[in-house]
Amino acid sequence: MNIIMLGAPGAGKGTQAKRLAEGYGIPHISTGDILRSNISRGTELGQKAKGFIDAGALVPDDLVIQLVADRLEEEDAKAGFIFDGFPRTIPQAQSLDQMLKEKGRKIEFAVNIDVPDQVIVERMSGRRFCINCGASYHTEYLKPQTEGVCDKCEGELALRKDDEPETVLKRLEVYHDQTEPLIAYYRNNGVLKEVDGTKEVAEILAEIRKQLGY
Ligand code: AP5
Repeated sequence: MNIIMLGAPGAGKGTQAKRLAEGYGIPHISTGDILRSNISRGTELGQKAKGFIDAGALVPDDLVIQLVADRLEEEDAKAGFIFDGFPRTIPQAQSLDQMLKEKGRKIEFAVNIDVPDQVIVERMSGRRFCINCGASYHTEYLKPQTEGVCDKCEGELALRKDDEPETVLKRLEVYHDQTEPLIAYYRNNGVLKEVDGTKEVAEILAEIRKQLGY
């Protein structure tokens, strides 16, 4: 199954993609996670991407498309994938279609998680991530068992630099300008599924599964 998660920053794409990927036994591929991992390892890609991410801007298409092309060659992606945070521009979507076509594959579902901007701003201020394993929490909606400590690895929880309020507003602006047009793109391709992202995590997951028919 080849699935894309669409939605504004903080809409819950990662939260749902992780759960769906576990259920379907296919990889959850987050371009944001891959870029952050490159930044923390100080790779050339990480050095090129850091300034864009910290400013709330998109990393240039050519860098992200190459990263995805490499990831799609890995063995675990051959049976399917759930992309989270990719594609984010029309050129990225067209490149992905072309890459998949060359492999005799295509996107089967694009799931758009719809959340209004004011809810996003509130959610982002409460998000915390583990600086060790990257697991995501929320100070109100998805609390760890011990405040400030990761349930999975006992790492320290922190606020992502690009979750500071001014950067979130910039990311939302970029989203509406460059990423939202993908909703019409996938609707025209006949693969769009839409869910209300303001409900509880488990309810949204059940709705996505229902719409995907699995
Ligand atoms: P990326 O990491 O992809 O960030 P994003 O798309 O902005 O998405 P987020 O990870 O912020 O949010 P999410 O929708 O996954 O929400 P989450 O599940 O965490 O990208 C970061 C940056 O990398 C970009 O700005 C860009 O610079 C660069 N980049 C990445 N991909 C790129 C690309 N393709 N092209 C160019 N540049 C790229 O949930 C958010 C919070 O809400 C969490 O705390 C969660 O616990 C909580 N939550 C989730 N669901 C619910 C719910 N139903 N109710 C209450 N709380 C909830």
